[in-house]
Amino acid sequence: MAKMMAVQVGRPKGEFELVERDIPEPKPGQVRVKVEACGICHSDIFAKDGLMPGLEYPRIPGHEIAGTVDKLGPGVAGWKVGQRVGVGWEGGHCFTCEPCRRGDFITCQHGQVTGLSFDGGYAQYTVVPQDALAAIPDELKSTLAGPMLCAGVTTFNALRHSGARPGDLVAIQGIGGLGHLAIQFASKMGFHTVAISGGADKKQLATDLGAHGYIDAQQADPAKALAEMGGARVILATAPSSKLMSAVIDGLGVDGTLLIVGAGTEPLQVTPLQLIVARRSVTGWPSGTAKDSEDTMRFAALTGVRPMVEAFPLEQAAKAYERMITNKARFRVVLTMP
Ligand SMILES: NC(=O)c1ccc[n+]([C@@H]2O[C@H](COP(=O)([O-])OP(=O)(O)OC[C@H]3O[C@@H](n4cnc5c(N)ncnc54)[C@H](OP(=O)(O)O)[C@@H]3O)[C@@H](O)[C@H]2O)c1
Ligand SMILES: [Zn+2]
Repeated sequence: MAKMMAVQVGRPKGEFELVERDIPEPKPGQVRVKVEACGICHSDIFAKDGLMPGLEYPRIPGHEIAGTVDKLGPGVAGWKVGQRVGVGWEGGHCFTCEPCRRGDFITCQHGQVTGLSFDGGYAQYTVVPQDALAAIPDELKSTLAGPMLCAGVTTFNALRHSGARPGDLVAIQGIGGLGHLAIQFASKMGFHTVAISGGADKKQLATDLGAHGYIDAQQADPAKALAEMGGARVILATAPSSKLMSAVIDGLGVDGTLLIVGAGTEPLQVTPLQLIVARRSVTGWPSGTAKDSEDTMRFAALTGVRPMVEAFPLEQAAKAYERMITNKARFRVVLTMP
């Protein structure tokens, strides 16, 4: 059987291991993708550290996949071998159950999660459910398309459903993989975009990404600064810190929403009064479907939104992940395949 290179995690909190594996065969309804690039998302920590119940190991992480269709499983229609495709978190949905019909794909019993419930993109090939495929526009090369499949779709989708209108004050908290794309999307969507980070060094970067304003949380209280600007309609919280999220709630204006995408595990702190006084709300947003990813990439192709990436060969996955997890990456680390 033909072999491929892959990087797997052998057990929860185990090291990344470079291994040779059989090239997987697509079953009915599945497609084999030849991976060209795979972004390293902070959420890969769930596979790396075993942070979800019921995970099986060894597991190949990676859910920001860009590549080409390599082989169609029985019964797959609508995709051609050689076609450029991306794969994000979600696939395997039935689109007929009650949650699916409500648009709640996360709780579909057939839903599977790339890089968690099946092997993902830290490999030369991966096999995915056909509904996980998103067509990649010509304008986006694979290293720039990969991050759109999670960091991109999550922030684009959250912002476009946030209720904010052009000209509204929208703050982006945390400038990492998600945050640096969120700033660009918010700015291109016509929001008055303010970035919140720590330190002076990210100010110029935020401005270059299209932010109209920058709050250095080491110098000023972000909640106070936003309140002085009239209060934010939306604060998109991308930093995985419940403490930081809780601390900005008073920066929301009337009907303002703290829109959470950063996956903090600690409880949030908010008093009922903080919410009541200005009809504020706190809500979360999960990534999106393949159709949402296509919308994201079309919008990016149209408006020039692009991730800033650092490319590493697959063999250096451990080093690349380390750059992400220690907040050194500017801003998305992407693995490229041999
Ligand atoms: N909702 C979803 O569907 C979804 C999808 C993808 C990812 N996520 C989650 O979103 C979060 C961000 O992912 P990402 O890939 O953008 O991560 P990332 O590239 O590592 O960036 C996270 C950023 O958050 C800020 N930060 C502040 N406090 C931090 C802390 N204690 N630890 C780490 N970062 C901290 C840093 O920016 P500053 O230096 O500017 O503060 C950092 O660059 C993660 O929790 C991830 O699991 C959720
Ligand atoms: Zn992700």
